[in-house]
Amino acid sequence: MMIVRDVQQLRAALASRRSAPGTGKEKKVGFVPTMGYLHEGHASLMRAAREQSDIVVLSIFVNPIQFGPNEDFESYPRDEERDAAIAEREGVDILFIPTVEVMYPQPTRTKIRVSGLTDRLCGVSRPGHFDGVTTVVAKLFNMVQPDYAFFGMKDAQQVAVLQQMVTDLNMNVEIVPCPIVREHDGLALSSRNVYLNEEEREQALVLSRSLREAREGVSQGEIATVGELRSFLETGIASSPLARIDYVEILTFPSLEPLAAEERFEDINGDIIAALAVFFGKTRLIDNMRLEKAEVLSHV
Ligand code: PAJ
Repeated sequence: MMIVRDVQQLRAALASRRSAPGTGKEKKVGFVPTMGYLHEGHASLMRAAREQSDIVVLSIFVNPIQFGPNEDFESYPRDEERDAAIAEREGVDILFIPTVEVMYPQPTRTKIRVSGLTDRLCGVSRPGHFDGVTTVVAKLFNMVQPDYAFFGMKDAQQVAVLQQMVTDLNMNVEIVPCPIVREHDGLALSSRNVYLNEEEREQALVLSRSLREAREGVSQGEIATVGELRSFLETGIASSPLARIDYVEILTFPSLEPLAAEERFEDINGDIIAALAVFFGKTRLIDNMRLEKAEVLSHV
């Protein structure tokens, strides 16, 4: 594995690996953008990239422009040595670790903004967050020029927004969504889980438990409408005294259209998503579950 820290080194490393000698055949580049402090969720993306591509590029960059003024940019957990060991173990070919100066040598006057999809869910509680994400991911795509880019459904809205960006701007990259990886007890893996104290960690299980029970209820036909699903989730989460709900929303996926409370699942065309953001102490956790049309109808 080669570690590169600036754009020139990155482009040179890619160029020398890209064309397979003799064959004239281009190799496929798979890209996994992250903010580091790697865990099994990130590792699952690296494995998907390894399987589907000839060259795997991983980036680690804690992107200042996607953090709000009162968010955790400064304190975001970082451990380059451990991350590099994980990347190496997962078969990454090129590890790109730029500094803020490399990514933003001068204040950017150009921002990428996806409208509509970013004005709901996390876009409400984190204004400007998705503009920071789309801008940095567009820059990284221009640097790496990947054939495939791998993203976790843990951040389902991020996947929807990036898919829209790639389509709207004719970017020559395929976004590959990958499933949420969870701890054995159900908690979705997140670099931010280290912020939780023991009691918060225990109570945070209410998120995955409520989603799991809700899935069961929907597939059995006991939860039949959008409103019923939302109150089932809200009641479940409220049973944890430390939980403070930011949002509980049921939307279409990937178009993220809101659904009326009285809407019955069997009448909705396409997939839907139940998305949660809940504070435990100062830590804001997100989780979600996607319900496919066939699953919703399984009891009928
Ligand atoms: P980060 O939070 O480090 O996540 C990097 C990638 O790992 C994202 O695609 C995220 O969805 C995925 N991921 C995180 N936890 C996961 C889990 N439990 N299961 C599956 N995938 C998981 O998302 C970002 O960084 C940034 O916004 C970024 C895209 C790098 C732009 O700065």
